[in-house]
Amino acid sequence: MSQAAPQPAETRHEMLMRQTAEGMPLLRVEGLARYFDVSSPWLNRVLQNEPRAILKAVDGVSFEIPRGKTFSLVGESGCGKSTVARLVVGLYKPTYGHVEFEGVDMATLKTRKQQAPVRRRFQMIFQDPYASLNPRWRVADIIAEPIRAHGLMSDEAQIRRRVGELLEQVRLSPRDGEKFPHEFSGGQRQRISIARALASNPEFLVCDEPTSALDVSVQAQILNLMKELQTELGLTYLFISHDLAVVYHISDYVGVMYLGRLVEWGEARRVFFNPQHPYTRMLLDAIPDLEMTGRARTPVAGEVPSPISPPSGCHFHPRCPFANERCKAEMPESLGLAAGGEVRCHAVEEGRLPPPGDTGAVQAARARRDEAGA
Ligand SMILES: Nc1ncnc2c1ncn2[C@@H]1O[C@H](COP(=O)(O)OP(=O)(O)OP(=O)(O)O)[C@@H](O)[C@H]1O
Ligand code: SF4
Ligand SMILES: [Mg+2]
Repeated sequence: MSQAAPQPAETRHEMLMRQTAEGMPLLRVEGLARYFDVSSPWLNRVLQNEPRAILKAVDGVSFEIPRGKTFSLVGESGCGKSTVARLVVGLYKPTYGHVEFEGVDMATLKTRKQQAPVRRRFQMIFQDPYASLNPRWRVADIIAEPIRAHGLMSDEAQIRRRVGELLEQVRLSPRDGEKFPHEFSGGQRQRISIARALASNPEFLVCDEPTSALDVSVQAQILNLMKELQTELGLTYLFISHDLAVVYHISDYVGVMYLGRLVEWGEARRVFFNPQHPYTRMLLDAIPDLEMTGRARTPVAGEVPSPISPPSGCHFHPRCPFANERCKAEMPESLGLAAGGEVRCHAVEEGRLPPPGDTGAVQAARARRDEAGA
C-alpha cells in the first residue's frame, strides 16, 4: 500500500501567520474571578459573632488581546488590575473562569513540564524596577538568569553575546552588564527589567504600572521604547496603569475596571473619543490634557468603596451622577456597543446619558485633532 508523503511540519512563522489569519487572539480571559478570604481568625469571629469576609478582588472579567496588540487595563487603586495581571501569568489560580493562551486553557496544563514551554512565552514587568532586580548581582547575570533557567543556551560566550544584544535592544550599552543595579537611574533600571523580560524570547508581556515610579519625561522614553520593541519583535502587551493619560498613546484596546469588574472596554479611540460608562467619563475628565492644550482638569470625585462590602446593584452608584433606583438594586450586565466593545451601565442601555462629547479632556483633544486636520 502506498504511503502518503509526510506533510512538512508547520514552521513557527507559518503557525503565527495562520493563527493571525484565523483571528485567534493570543490571550483570552473568560469570566475570570479571584476571591480572597480576609476573615478575622476563627476565634475572633466566634466571640464577636462576625461572618466570614470574602473580598472579590476580580469578579467576572472577560477580554481578548489579538497578537501584536496592546490591551490596557485602567482604574483607580484597588480595583483589581494587579490581581488580573497575576491571574494571567499564573501567580494566582482563578476562583472561577479561564485564561487561554493561543486557545489553550492554562488550567489544563497540570505539570510544571507541561506549563514550562508556555510560561516561557510570557513575562511580567513590575512597577518598581529596583525591587525586582537582585542588588547583589551584576546586570549581565540578572539578564542571563532567564536564559539559564529555561535552558535556552549553555555556552557562556553565547550567553554573553545574547546579553549584550538585549542591552542594546533596550538602548543601553553591552558594557553596562558589568555594573550593579544601584549604578543606574530609575528609567535605566526599568530598561534592565525589560531586557531581562525579553531574555526568554517571550511573545507576550504583562506590564504592571511599568512607568508609574518614573518622572514624566522618563515615562515617555520607556513608553516609546516599549512601542518600538513591540514593532520590532511583534510583542503583545497587557499594560496596566491607574492613569488613562499614560495609556493614551500606546493602547489598541482599553478596559476600564471598577471594584473587580470591567465596566467598559473597546478600541482605544472609541473609549477615548466616545466614552460611554460614567466612570470612564469621570476618569477622562480628570486627565489634565490629552494633547497639551492647557485645559484645567476636573478631579475624580469620591473614593472607591471597600471591596469587602461593595455597594448594592451597580457598584459605582454612590459616585454616579446618573444613578437611579434601578442602579441601586440591579447589577448591570455587559452590553455590546454598536461602536465596538462593551459597557455595563443601565443608563447606557436606557439611552438616558448625555452625549459623551461633554468630557472636557476629549473635547480638548478633539479640537486639537480637528485643528491639525483642518
Ligand atoms: N493576596 C491578597 N489577599 C487579600 N486581598 C488582596 C490580595 N491581593 C489583592 N487584594 C485586594 O484586592 C483588591 C484589588 O487589589 P489589586 O492589587 O489587584 O488592585 P490594583 O488595581 O492593582 O491597585 P493599585 O492601583 O493600588 O495597584 C484590593 O482591595 C486588595 O487589597
Ligand atoms: S448603572 Fe447606573 S449607577 Fe451604574 S454607572 Fe450606569 S447610571 Fe451610573
Ligand atoms: Mg496594582
